[in-house]
Amino acid sequence: MSDHRNVAFTGISVDREALIANYATVADQVAPSGVIAVVKADAYGHGALHAAQAFVDAGAEWLGVADIDEALALRDGGIDVRILAWLHAPDEDFERAAAENITPAVSSVDQLNAAVAAEVSSVHLVIDTGLSRNGAVESEWAELFDAAGSLQRRGERTRIEGVMSHLANASRDDDLEQDATLRRALDGLAAHGIVPEIVHLAASAASLAVPETRRDLARVGIALYGLSPFAGRTSADLGLRPAMTVTASVLRTVRVRAGEGVSYGYTHRASTDTTLAIIGLGYADGFDRAYGNRVSVSIGGQRFPVVGRVAMNAMHVDIGDADVRVGDEVVLWGDPATGVPAVEEWADAIGTINYEVVARLGRLLERRTL
Ligand SMILES: Cc1ncc(COP(=O)(O)O)c(C=O)c1O
Repeated sequence: MSDHRNVAFTGISVDREALIANYATVADQVAPSGVIAVVKADAYGHGALHAAQAFVDAGAEWLGVADIDEALALRDGGIDVRILAWLHAPDEDFERAAAENITPAVSSVDQLNAAVAAEVSSVHLVIDTGLSRNGAVESEWAELFDAAGSLQRRGERTRIEGVMSHLANASRDDDLEQDATLRRALDGLAAHGIVPEIVHLAASAASLAVPETRRDLARVGIALYGLSPFAGRTSADLGLRPAMTVTASVLRTVRVRAGEGVSYGYTHRASTDTTLAIIGLGYADGFDRAYGNRVSVSIGGQRFPVVGRVAMNAMHVDIGDADVRVGDEVVLWGDPATGVPAVEEWADAIGTINYEVVARLGRLLERRTL
């Protein structure tokens, strides 16, 4: 006999209205600076195309991604606003960027020359002011600024439109020191005849907490997804709404006796006779194996612990004697204002940050926009 019970959605639901509202909140706070909406890493796990479209609908004129592949995927999806990409393979020739009007942020003379050779219409220069990642370090500035100055004098098609750097978020003083270093770099560029139209430095944390570091644009990622970049401040404290809810359906329930072991390695044993609900999400989907015995989920508005080790495709929830049925919805995390766990509970459980928890979610997990 066929069974017509409702089966809850397993995967990631993204609240488009929350993305739009968060964009408006952030844009308002950083004004008169504009916003580059950062949608790298599949929009921090939220689904790049839908998130990008929501931000564009909210008024975004710029999107930011790590690499040109991500930028091209947005163009393929019909996104036509400005896109900046700042991390490139050593052999990147920028032809693809030129063809799709993507703006590369370049860190070296080699990258600048490649972008010019590809006839990219505009570039931003990446200056390292203390993160020690990409970006020209101070000892490389003279050569880079010289190359930039001479390409401008030659009247090449490629315009030096912007200058960017990225903060280490170590402390307010460190941020301000990086800001001062950026100012030195801009003075150096000016001495080579280049005054960029657009300068951008701050990401979410500094945009919200160190307003002195806001320049023409703020490159904002995590806050747009409704998550807080600060350890001691929640989304609600910042007027933001988490856009992501992760749910699963109960695949089956298993009755166990007191003393019986649960999942691999028996890291948990039932303390009383109880019932386990099995859900079909595991470390292959980006849920850390170490979540076992450290987090809880919400079913029907009640909290229940995840017990035993998270497996590749499954985890166990101890539902006691609650009336939980196969197909019921299990909320792993979402907007805590609705009573469900916050993603930060999952992050804290394994000693990481909300960024990592959402960005690591499997690309094959189903995503739907609500
Ligand atoms: C260069 C750059 N800018 C901006 C961001 C956005 O940062 P956040 O998510 O903290 O706003 C990132 C993300 O790591 C980045 O790499």
